[in-house]
Amino acid sequence: MTVEELQKKLADLPLAKIIYFEEIGSTNDFALHLLVEDEGCEDGTLVIADAQTAGRGRFDRKWYTHPNSSLAFSLAIIPSLEEAQKNALFAPLGALAVSLALEDLGLKPKIKWPNDVLLDERKTCGVLAESCWLGGQLKGIVLGIGVNIGKDSIPKAEDLLFPATCVEAHYHKPLDRLDLLRDILKHVFLWRETLTCDNFIKAWEERLAYKGKYVTLQSRNNEAPIKGKMLGVTSEGYLRLEAEPHGSEINVMIGDLKLRPSVE
Ligand code: BTN
Repeated sequence: MTVEELQKKLADLPLAKIIYFEEIGSTNDFALHLLVEDEGCEDGTLVIADAQTAGRGRFDRKWYTHPNSSLAFSLAIIPSLEEAQKNALFAPLGALAVSLALEDLGLKPKIKWPNDVLLDERKTCGVLAESCWLGGQLKGIVLGIGVNIGKDSIPKAEDLLFPATCVEAHYHKPLDRLDLLRDILKHVFLWRETLTCDNFIKAWEERLAYKGKYVTLQSRNNEAPIKGKMLGVTSEGYLRLEAEPHGSEINVMIGDLKLRPSVE
């Protein structure tokens, strides 16, 4: 990957700027730094790296980005006032965009709430959206997306909390990483327009893994997990669960979801 190749491949997308690193700590950290330090950081600035040495996931987990075999990028977004009200939906926007791009390849991804993309029940993409606040105002959002493309991108079993896979294990033809990147970004820009509409929630919900199934949600480390049937998501992006043992609906904003085995 070179900056020239990126510029050529992404020329028709509404990107303000492309910043490429062969290796960096974390593209999210760099994009956050741009938003905080650089008054001129424009909406649609893309920070992309071939390898990350300190990639981060949700809950401060490590995210591995091996050279030549992954996609790791962060898009700096300056939200409109309307979008700022829905800032929790930017991470699902990333997951939806990756899912649609994988569907364009003929694959059948699912989204594990809130924003992991699965292929055949294994994680192939993670999304980390981080907000940058200044004086109580949302200044910007960094939408960080990591996709496992080649076999080398799959972390070692001991580093995994959830089974992982890569796109090439499911797409048995040569795959151009940059074509996939272009398609993901195209969907990000298209679906960003719908963030405040029911259509967005519908598209996200249609792709949710475990809908109607019995799941366990670990909401915070030391709290007892919540068990229940997954109903869907609210318009704000909360997970809707029919909680056990009473069957009342609860809405949860944060957590790690697992499918419950039929026998525990
Ligand atoms: C997760 O699954 O917990 C989210 C993983 C997000 C990884 C991406 S890779 C590009 C960007 N830079 C980071 O440090 N993290 C995100």
